[in-house]
Amino acid sequence: MKIKDNKIHIGKVAVSDLAEEYGTPLYVYDEEKIRDNYRRAFNAFSKHYPDFRFFYAVKACNNPAIASILVSEGAGIDAASVNEILLAKQVGLGGEDVMFSGNFLSDEDIKKGLDSGVIFNLDDISLLPRVLKFGKPEILSFRVNPGYGRSNVGEFVTNAGPNAKFGVHPDQVTQAYKLAKEAGIKRFGAHMMPGSCITDADYFPFVTGLLMDIIGKTGKELGIKFEFIDLGGGLGIPYRGDEEHLDLEDAARKVAEVFKAKTAEYGLHPPRLMMEPARYFVGNAGYVIGKVHSIKSSYKKIIGTDVGMNTLCRPVMYGSYHHIFVDGKENDSREKLALCGQLCENTDYWVKERDLPSTIAEGDLIVIENAGAYGFAMSYQYNGRLRPAEVLVKKSKHWLIRKRETYKDMVANTKVPRRLKKK
Ligand code: LLP
Repeated sequence: MKIKDNKIHIGKVAVSDLAEEYGTPLYVYDEEKIRDNYRRAFNAFSKHYPDFRFFYAVKACNNPAIASILVSEGAGIDAASVNEILLAKQVGLGGEDVMFSGNFLSDEDIKKGLDSGVIFNLDDISLLPRVLKFGKPEILSFRVNPGYGRSNVGEFVTNAGPNAKFGVHPDQVTQAYKLAKEAGIKRFGAHMMPGSCITDADYFPFVTGLLMDIIGKTGKELGIKFEFIDLGGGLGIPYRGDEEHLDLEDAARKVAEVFKAKTAEYGLHPPRLMMEPARYFVGNAGYVIGKVHSIKSSYKKIIGTDVGMNTLCRPVMYGSYHHIFVDGKENDSREKLALCGQLCENTDYWVKERDLPSTIAEGDLIVIENAGAYGFAMSYQYNGRLRPAEVLVKKSKHWLIRKRETYKDMVANTKVPRRLKKK
């Protein structure tokens, strides 16, 4: 994003042109930024450990166009559900290019997962006999809960540790692989996902050590060769201007050091190193453009926009900060203002006090930063406020990559029994 002649641009396109062509609220992604993010991260890790691969966790932004960008860079796909496996297929990936890391799977999920031939990553030992009832995965890993998790998103996003619902307890890991080996499974990997939005480089080698100590003992005891070890996602981005950036180079170098040392310590055949980030690739490459529709001066002055908690739920759900720019007014003097969306819920009053241009007026455009990850993917249609359109920008070109929802979409799957229909 750049401000040129006081006008906000994404890539080389003025947000006012995007708003005029596609309407608001609107999700906009900058392709070059996604590619830059991916390459920076890939180069950092592969430099220190060449047998390295990223799997993009498609849950963060599941538009097939965005997934296609990451796939074209060489990423596999991390799928949380059968539908995400189908999405991977739509963008050309299947088999061992896809990792299926669901949790609390149904029999239906298991059957469809097995049929698709993707890498099965089991969240619990209890899933193994249920999987074996339907077939034997070609390659299997377990998601280990190393007993420690961390998050910059707050207590709401807990991916590991005693309070997380995810992963196999360290004491059950050897037993899990033993049962799998006894069942005739021959190819193995290991996985963890302990952190969310971490910008402290030292966290990554620390958790790598935790996993390697658990998995190393298991490998040694059972004589298992781990083909890959997946350290999960969690590469963080700053949301506030004063937050630190993750020093990727430092994180990658230290992770590779620990990884190699532990591989040697436990006599493991050197596995492929994998990670499955999402936020780092797409988070800062996505924006929401919204419009100010009305301004109210009551107990407080409240700026009413069409960006509600249904459009971007992170501020309300996690108390997350997203910076807001006002097109054409960034140089104006500021005052403390409140801002909200259009829903009939007071949680939709998602900014209680923020320094915003005091000249803000009806018709102005706002641009919300860092909305590419867990933005559109977590949007919903409450109050008949439907999901926005998505647009991809590359330099001065732009493409609609998801149509705005309409009333027809809102009622598409509903049915009124004939007896209830008004004659
Ligand atoms: N792998 C697994 C198994 C995951 O569960 C996740 C995210 C990722 C990878 C990608 O993690 P990332 O690199 O993006 O940190 N909605 C929250 C974040 C929830 C994270 C869910 N799992 C938010 O808006 O901050």
